[in-house]
Amino acid sequence: MKFFLDTGNIEEIRRINRLGLVDGVTTNPSIIAKEGRPFKDVIQEIASIVSGPVSAEVIGLSVEEMLQEARELAAWAPNVVIKLPLTENGLEATYRLSQEGIKTNVTLVFSAAQGLMAAKAGATYISPFIGRLDDIAVEGMKLIRDLKIILDNYRLDTEIIAASIRSIGHVEQAAIAGAHIATIPGSLLPTLWKHPLTDAGIDRFLKDWEKVPKA
Ligand code: E4P
Repeated sequence: MKFFLDTGNIEEIRRINRLGLVDGVTTNPSIIAKEGRPFKDVIQEIASIVSGPVSAEVIGLSVEEMLQEARELAAWAPNVVIKLPLTENGLEATYRLSQEGIKTNVTLVFSAAQGLMAAKAGATYISPFIGRLDDIAVEGMKLIRDLKIILDNYRLDTEIIAASIRSIGHVEQAAIAGAHIATIPGSLLPTLWKHPLTDAGIDRFLKDWEKVPKA
């Protein structure tokens, strides 16, 4: 499974990147707004640190607006991927961008049918939102499982980004379900390597080590 960081925070990206764990980065307008810096500056700085795909989202809602923005964003760095919402216009823009060889990430996917539409339109990635489905008492992970089966059934190349991840369990279950990628908040990812028994084990080893006779 590839790990993307779902953040615009440079410190979080640098920290996790030092461990070789950042395969890409996803952003959205809410994430960018938290940084208090121009969109272009944030994306270009991330793209200079991370060699994998960096998703930047369009704001326009018409096909022409999306295409115009997408072409501009794609010119910011060679590894920028265009994030588009799953609407009729978003699907048309995805199809047209795929014809131009521009990579896309179709976001706000909440049903298997939506995911299949995006894959057929030529999306490089689709982002089903687990946490937001869980929030409305619908099992988000079922969507990941269903989409994995559907993409495999038809040998579609689109990769599933398990998005809106809120817990370690989400990451583990998405990996078991075969999601190609999990995009993980920068604040959550460091908790993946933590376990209280690991800390307790180190403490005990160090205490026992004190009992070893010094030569
Ligand atoms: C995906 O690319 C989105 O940026 C993100 O996962 C949304 O997550 P949220 O529901 O926590 O805002």
